[in-house]
Amino acid sequence: MEFGFKDLERAEAFYSDFGLVLEERTDSTLLMRAACEQRYCFIGRKSDSNGLQAVGMKAVSMKVLEEAAQFPEASGIEAMDAPGGGWRVRLASPSGLSFDLTFGIEAQVPLPTRAPLKINHGQVKSRFGEWQRAKDGAAEVLRLGHVALATTDFERDFAWLQSRLGMRPSDILFDGKPENRIGAFLHCTGASRWVDHHSIALFASSETRMHHCSFELQDIDAEFLGNKWMQSRGWTGLWGIGRHVLGSQIYDYWFDPEGNLVEHFTDGDLVQPGTEAGMHQVCDDSLSQWGPPVPKTFLEPWKHEA
Ligand SMILES: [Fe+2]
Repeated sequence: MEFGFKDLERAEAFYSDFGLVLEERTDSTLLMRAACEQRYCFIGRKSDSNGLQAVGMKAVSMKVLEEAAQFPEASGIEAMDAPGGGWRVRLASPSGLSFDLTFGIEAQVPLPTRAPLKINHGQVKSRFGEWQRAKDGAAEVLRLGHVALATTDFERDFAWLQSRLGMRPSDILFDGKPENRIGAFLHCTGASRWVDHHSIALFASSETRMHHCSFELQDIDAEFLGNKWMQSRGWTGLWGIGRHVLGSQIYDYWFDPEGNLVEHFTDGDLVQPGTEAGMHQVCDDSLSQWGPPVPKTFLEPWKHEA
């Protein structure tokens, strides 16, 4: 995720409490990583215009980048000017959302993380003579999971994500008739046998911009402890903790200092690439199985006033 920020110092303070780890900081750029081997998953650029600048997606080969560079809406192949090197092709979707297709960024050693908790379920016990003892502090973010995007041109962007990035819908939301599609959750098809239910969610909106991006935590205790930490640090929450319907993630949402909405999630669904999309009539219960009521500003969080 690449964002512009007016105040990089405040952004670093927020995302450190959120659970990202500083990779590199210059006067103009803030690079942060998660615990996984990926070199970085968050770029902040000092800028007078804040908000989303681009979404990075890793391609499976250099050949994919060479093909992508041929699209009329694409830049050429550019060397990346960041630790770990690599190459990118920047593409704009029909509504103007920017994507960086990347390849060849060097990986690094993962950070140590707490192992998943052993849970004594009602009928299945796995912890004997050991205690659950939580450690306070910032969450350990394991990786960037997905981004949700708002678009003024849902149909064209939806088609574009499939034709240009090879993504496929896991679930589609419609209003009234099935042809009246208003949202889609798309999975990646490039590499693995089982993939996240969605790496991109796309929603019809009156504006084209990011809705939120979401980072994975180890388990539900990590979710609650991360929530407790963010509250103790005085950051502004929007919603959670609850469990979504499509994707099933346990979630909570926070505003960063410049109004970008970011999510912690855990226990999301996996699908097989190419799996047939589910069709769902949108309704009041589309977003959450349990948790606090949906905030009025959730669909347009950029209108939220803290
Ligand atoms: Fe999400």
